[in-house]
Amino acid sequence: MNQYSLADAMTDKGNFTVPKLSESNMGFGVLGVFLGLLLEVSTHGPHSVPRTSWKRQDLDLMEFSEPGIFNYSTLLLSEERGALYVGARDAIFELNKRNVTVRNQKVQWKVAEHPMEMCTRKGKSRERDCPNYIRVLQIVDDKRLYICGTHAFQPQCDYLNLADFSMEGRPEDGRGKCSFDPSQSFTTVMVDGDLYSGTAYNFLGSEPIISRYSPSHSLLRTEYSTSWLNEPSFVFADVIRAEKHRGDGEDDKVYYFFTEVSVEYEFFGKLLIPRVARVCKGDLGGERTLQKKWTSFLKAKLVCSMPELNFVFNVVHDVFILKGRDWRDTVFYGVFTSQWGNVGLSAVCAYNMAAVEEVFSKGKYMQKATVEQSHTKWVRYNGIPPSPRPGACISNQLRQKNISSSLHLPDKTLQFVRDHPLLEDPVLPIGNGPRLITKDINYTQIVVERVRALDGNIYDVIFTGTDKGVLHKSVVFEEDVHIVEEIQLLKNSEPIKNLLLSSETQSVYAGSDSGVIQSPTAFCGKYSTCDDCVLARDPYCAWDPNTAACVCIIDAPKEQLRRLVQSLSGDANKCPPVSSVSFKDYQKVLVKPGSSAELPCVVKSNLAHVMWKSNNTLLDEASRFHFIGENGLLIYSVAPEDQGDYQCWSVEWAPAAGKNFSRLLAGYTLKLDLPPGPLARTNRVATTVHNQETSSVLPAEGNGKTERQPLTSASFTSTVLLTTPPQTDPSLTPPSSGTVRLQPSRNHPPNAVIPRPDSQDPAAEYLQHNNSVALLFLFLLFFLLFLAAMVYNCYMQYLPAPCLRLRATLLGSNKCTHQPEYRACEAGLMEASAADKINMTEQPAQNGSQTTKNLQALRDTGYETEPECGNGRLPSHNFGGDSSSQEKPFDVDCDSQSIQFADADDAY
Ligand SMILES: *[C@@H]1O[C@H](CO)[C@@H](O)[C@H](O)[C@H]1NC(C)=O
Ligand SMILES: *[C@@H]1O[C@H](CO)[C@@H](O)[C@H](O)[C@H]1NC(C)=O
Ligand SMILES: *[C@@H]1O[C@H](CO)[C@@H](O)[C@H](O)[C@H]1NC(C)=O
Ligand SMILES: *[C@@H]1O[C@H](CO)[C@@H](O)[C@H](O)[C@H]1NC(C)=O
Ligand SMILES: *[C@@H]1O[C@H](CO)[C@@H](O)[C@H](O)[C@H]1NC(C)=O
Repeated sequence: MNQYSLADAMTDKGNFTVPKLSESNMGFGVLGVFLGLLLEVSTHGPHSVPRTSWKRQDLDLMEFSEPGIFNYSTLLLSEERGALYVGARDAIFELNKRNVTVRNQKVQWKVAEHPMEMCTRKGKSRERDCPNYIRVLQIVDDKRLYICGTHAFQPQCDYLNLADFSMEGRPEDGRGKCSFDPSQSFTTVMVDGDLYSGTAYNFLGSEPIISRYSPSHSLLRTEYSTSWLNEPSFVFADVIRAEKHRGDGEDDKVYYFFTEVSVEYEFFGKLLIPRVARVCKGDLGGERTLQKKWTSFLKAKLVCSMPELNFVFNVVHDVFILKGRDWRDTVFYGVFTSQWGNVGLSAVCAYNMAAVEEVFSKGKYMQKATVEQSHTKWVRYNGIPPSPRPGACISNQLRQKNISSSLHLPDKTLQFVRDHPLLEDPVLPIGNGPRLITKDINYTQIVVERVRALDGNIYDVIFTGTDKGVLHKSVVFEEDVHIVEEIQLLKNSEPIKNLLLSSETQSVYAGSDSGVIQSPTAFCGKYSTCDDCVLARDPYCAWDPNTAACVCIIDAPKEQLRRLVQSLSGDANKCPPVSSVSFKDYQKVLVKPGSSAELPCVVKSNLAHVMWKSNNTLLDEASRFHFIGENGLLIYSVAPEDQGDYQCWSVEWAPAAGKNFSRLLAGYTLKLDLPPGPLARTNRVATTVHNQETSSVLPAEGNGKTERQPLTSASFTSTVLLTTPPQTDPSLTPPSSGTVRLQPSRNHPPNAVIPRPDSQDPAAEYLQHNNSVALLFLFLLFFLLFLAAMVYNCYMQYLPAPCLRLRATLLGSNKCTHQPEYRACEAGLMEASAADKINMTEQPAQNGSQTTKNLQALRDTGYETEPECGNGRLPSHNFGGDSSSQEKPFDVDCDSQSIQFADADDAY
């Protein structure tokens, strides 16, 4: 229910066309828009479905875990040493990166009895909270790793010698490097021997800090102030190197990604905002102002939204930086969900590093302003910031001005950046919207690899891990994304806590609470026909017509590459023609008259529709036919006219190629066992039918092992018949309703019952049920709100005669006497209507019972009149391409109110 205001608050265009409360028809207007939005997002919003779903048992994945050890959540890949280092609870492992089932080394790092007691005495659980969760694993040099653990809520760090895999045993204080609480988010990155981290600095986890620990310099950290960090949840940090050859003397920069509570938007409850922040590697802090604090800390909002639906993804869970040769080519990907998980949507947005740098180097600052004595809010700073630009890294330009380090920066610049760490301009995603949206999935992790396909183009392949142990692999093709496959990586439905990718071993490594899994980046060999191989649109895979196999192009020798067939648009017409299956290859099915027959048909693609044909006409759900389970055909009470051939076709729509591709998956010849013959024969028929039924009803064996035979030869045999429909696995995405949808043919009898595809999809049913409850609730809420507004307007004499009479009867002439809180709101609203240009913030989500209070609160919650607090009135500077000149939320009239500058030390 919050989405309406959220969308408004965060849609980047700053378009706040919010209905005014005093308008008597407001209830319906808001209701309409809002209901539309909810329906739109949850049912019609764009989302993608993985083409293929692999189950655990379909695949041969390598897994590592040791009995009694859990929380394998920290992973570090060392390409040089060919090792995967794993930080778990109380232990560190070195695994072979080519095969994670091979453990090379192990060292335990447990909490001693004394600190353990201290930890339990503070009310923490011995088993759950106090063990030493290894959270930091960083490479120091080729001989040592730097490791930190939560160590019974007293974080400690130490060096690990790689030669003998032993700890040096000289633990250092890990405060600010590692979280105290193992369940708290944090991030670290080692850059040139310095440890950059984002975590909490105290036991309670209430003091967030972005800091740098360096053997050569003193500690550098953020100010403890909500303007700098406001309840952040850190997800990622990494360094982006400047190009040395350019000769502009620019500094390397460390970027942090996190979600925090917004200060600039006011909202009921906490409104989360995804952020990117950066610091300069050469920062040494200020001389007087900002001593031992970052002088280069700046942050900006990341936008990941569906503008057309007004829907905003405001929680970032993970980020992957795809580094190019030049930082200008660098792209980063983030996985997002909405703060309100009930919508069930996840999104992947991609950003250009150049866009981020543009915001940091040219964007407008925001500043804290006090309005009406007590209330502070963040508004755009329209004045001219001091020079050198606050927050800028030291470059040759500054060095020419004799500023060779941050210690030489003028106090004015430092004071400004201390008070204005937030930039107003947002970082917009490439294409202004998500690359990928999925429904009923929570993505937790992301890695991306660039792959050169056979067409010579480079494609970004996105691997996303979910909170249910599933991995999605998607490919970005011409601004569109296609989910190639989903893989059930973990046995249990638990979150993927960490994902790493190695191009060298062509593997994805996933860390979870229960173990470490290694999965190949592609499963080309699982596609048994050229159509399947090409329609998968997997840039790693191509079809070799000579060997009739789908192969991984990375392994392929040069001379093989030339004959391989691949089409990233999924144009299966590039496949060599397949000799058609002749009738005599069809599976013969003998059925007794009056009994029923089941003809199974397995289609592995979730994007394909299944069609049944008999005697070359399309079958529909007439009385005798019934489409069962996953694409099988059930014929009730077989009659003589049912005899004939039956074909199962899959029709797959390849949007990028703009074509449908049909292929024959199975063929049957149905024959009646007419004259009641000798006993033996009847028995045989009965067995046949029985077999078919069991095989379709009990998905016992064969599933996963049985490969569909290529339809090229006479090898089309009983395997087809015995292949069972895939099990429905609740942890995998339910197949799109399209999977089981059959196109009713034009000539089906008018009274034939065609089940709505929606009703076959339990997820869809659930969704609709969910919606109707939500809608009912909403409706009630709005009704209450509307009533309250009526009563209020009546009370305020805004409504005419009948109500005035009623009012007079109830109140007499005694106005507002007994309700002092009304007086304030009355004054406020009068003022508002007088000003007539006020942007009253509308909160459609208000709780009906609190309306009175909220009305009062309205005066200072929203984006209403406020001073424009700058030295000038510069025209709104729209950054990042969005040039439509809408009102900015904070573009307001300056005349009426005075303004105080915010005191940056408020927070102390
Ligand atoms: C560690 O693993 C256990 C068992 O899987 C799980 O219940 C717990 O939540 C995990 N703890 C953390 C901090 O991840
Ligand atoms: C920079 O410092 C040098 C030596 O201290 C001085 O000669 C020069 O004038 C200074 N330049 C500027 C622009 O201040
Ligand atoms: C996604 O996560 C939210 C919050 O943790 C949870 O409420 C929701 O059920 C999850 N959705 C799915 C589809 O797992
Ligand atoms: C298929 O054709 C045969 C022979 O023409 C006919 O006997 C049979 O009834 C037809 N079957 C169906 C299902 O239309
Ligand atoms: C492709 O096939 C689907 C399902 O059979 C059908 O609805 C659609 O109209 C077809 N599209 C084209 C372009 O043939």
